[in-house]
Amino acid sequence: MNAPAPVSPGSPAATLRGALAGLLDGLPPRQAAQAVERLIATYRGATPTAAPILRDRADVVAYAAYRMPATFEAVRSALTAFADAVPGWTPGDHLDLGGGTGAAAWAASATWDGKRPVTVLDWAEPALALGRELAAAHPALADTRWQGSRIGAALTLEPADLVTVSYVLNELTGADRTALVDAAAGAARSVVIVEPGTPDGYARVIEARDRLIRAGLRVAAPCPHSAACPIVPGTDWCHFSARVSRSSLHRQVKGGSLAYEDEKFSYVAATRLPVHPAPARVVRKPQIRKGQVLLDLCETDQALRRTTVTKRHGDLYRAARDTDWGAPWPPPAGEAY
Ligand SMILES: C[S@@+](CC[C@H](N)C(=O)[O-])C[C@H]1O[C@@H](n2cnc3c(N)ncnc32)[C@H](O)[C@@H]1O
Repeated sequence: MNAPAPVSPGSPAATLRGALAGLLDGLPPRQAAQAVERLIATYRGATPTAAPILRDRADVVAYAAYRMPATFEAVRSALTAFADAVPGWTPGDHLDLGGGTGAAAWAASATWDGKRPVTVLDWAEPALALGRELAAAHPALADTRWQGSRIGAALTLEPADLVTVSYVLNELTGADRTALVDAAAGAARSVVIVEPGTPDGYARVIEARDRLIRAGLRVAAPCPHSAACPIVPGTDWCHFSARVSRSSLHRQVKGGSLAYEDEKFSYVAATRLPVHPAPARVVRKPQIRKGQVLLDLCETDQALRRTTVTKRHGDLYRAARDTDWGAPWPPPAGEAY
């Protein structure tokens, strides 16, 4: 993946970018950077917390401007992989749990055309208020319901076609995490969970994946199967990368002048729908050598294998040069290669 995904004018991604840029209008850059630094320090502290981390407008503006473009791109990548595995299906409604300022609602809107009932649930009222403000810029999300609720054992969910849980599990106690995944599995036709692409994030995804399978769902992505993950715990972690354009705020906080950064994420998409998982998935950045491409694949028979595609493979070699970390392999029929 060499450049951020193209952003066509009028698309949800472009509208979100514009709405986020407007947030910082009039806010002195130093003040915005300080709010981000405060937030980063809070997130480095102990989580879960007894009360919301996002307490006020400054916190949520900092979160939205600094983190939301990245969580949006990570969730969009996961939803795109999920959509590829359930071709022709479009969610009739969407419930986003721990949705904060609404990144996953925007990502679903960028994945499936049209308008659907959307509910974003979170306990941080300032996050919901800002989410509503941002969504006003996008007609497909203008009627979104912003529901103030605490995720925990007492949470009950109405049936939903699609439930998303992005970058939330880390903020919950073990008991609340279990309650959330079980509630989502009971209420949803399809569940998509996204976590940071770290060993701990992957471990939380695997724990959730096991619970979703036990509840009768099948894995649609990234895995080509619903059997156990072949990674030996502690030796590696399955994660992917989404390219995100850096805003001026990012450059100010992180220094340097790079126009983009790579958001690493782990995810699982599971469903009760008939599913067509990829025959294999590229699980590391492809290594392009002279006349050959090395692909690390996770395959249907639960094996992790390296395959070498050489010039002698003709069209397949050209496809291998174009493929990406996280893509299905071989490219689905109908995609040129
Ligand atoms: C890191 S943010 C992720 C927000 C959004 N899903 C995204 O991907 O950008 C975590 C969110 O989970 C919410 N959250 C954490 N614990 C919660 C709880 N017990 N009940 C409800 N929301 C919670 C926080 O308020 C926050 O909005």
